[in-house]
Amino acid sequence: MPQWLQPEAAALLRDAGLDVADGGRGVDDDPLPRAGTLALVEGCAGVLTQLADRVDDAFLDAAGPGLRVVANVAVGHDNVDVGACSRRGVVVTNTPGVLTDATADLALALILMATRRLGDAERRVRTGEPWRWGMGRNLGTGLQGRTLGIVGLGQIGAATARRARALGMHIAYAGRRDADPAVVRELGARRLPLHDLLAACDVVSLHCPLTPETRHLVDARALARMRPDAFLVNTARGPVVDEAALADALRAGALAGAALDVYEDEPRIHPGLAGRDDVVLLPHVGSATRETRRAMALLAARNAAAVIAGERPLTPVG
Ligand code: DGY
Repeated sequence: MPQWLQPEAAALLRDAGLDVADGGRGVDDDPLPRAGTLALVEGCAGVLTQLADRVDDAFLDAAGPGLRVVANVAVGHDNVDVGACSRRGVVVTNTPGVLTDATADLALALILMATRRLGDAERRVRTGEPWRWGMGRNLGTGLQGRTLGIVGLGQIGAATARRARALGMHIAYAGRRDADPAVVRELGARRLPLHDLLAACDVVSLHCPLTPETRHLVDARALARMRPDAFLVNTARGPVVDEAALADALRAGALAGAALDVYEDEPRIHPGLAGRDDVVLLPHVGSATRETRRAMALLAARNAAAVIAGERPLTPVG
């Protein structure tokens, strides 16, 4: 059972009678280089993967025919070729639910940071720029009575919408799949086609998974639909947004600002975004609370142990 994991998750696996190797990268180490990962997984029955680990045919070849489970320590599983795993009889699991609140909290923080221009304000204070209170200074946008557009009204999208409702926002949503009718009712949310939602909302927050259909879902055409006073927030996956198009749109004043936790080519930040005061940039911290990371590791470990014991995992993908 090689790969990175937290000590409690390792203990859970050892208690289940499994040998554990973590490749020496510890709790908060960088991802292993690819060659190290491929060497580490050889002969394993199960692997706990992070989002930087690409699980493809080369990975599965390296692991060999004994591999039974890939337990991704993330809700998103765009790093895993689920089809290739299924063809080889390898079960894939993810960690939904346990990171919903942490990620929704972060989405709300980004909404507030963008609309109240907090990143820019904090940066200026920190650099020692002289400041004073002034009626016309540092003005942002209030959220009460404004509309939040949620792209992908799943668990995290709904949790973000609930938080925004508490601030007095209205909710609209767009998505390929039908949302839970009870959630839609609870939020008083109206469904709109994506391009109508982009045109109608004051803040648009992305919560869809990365799939071939959602790659560059927010491209130049979509951004052109947004209002010049609107904000884009992305806590989902970087490639859902065409970053070059976003940089162009911001430069042209097609929207008021953006707040990003995820990027097309992490950890690289598009140079057209990095230097802008109207862009908030965080280092993919949506699920980064101690409690959440512990819960993610434990759920992944439980999933792996269940499959190896011949049981159904708690949260299989698909
Ligand atoms: C996820 O679970 O998909 C998150 O992006 C990890 O932080």
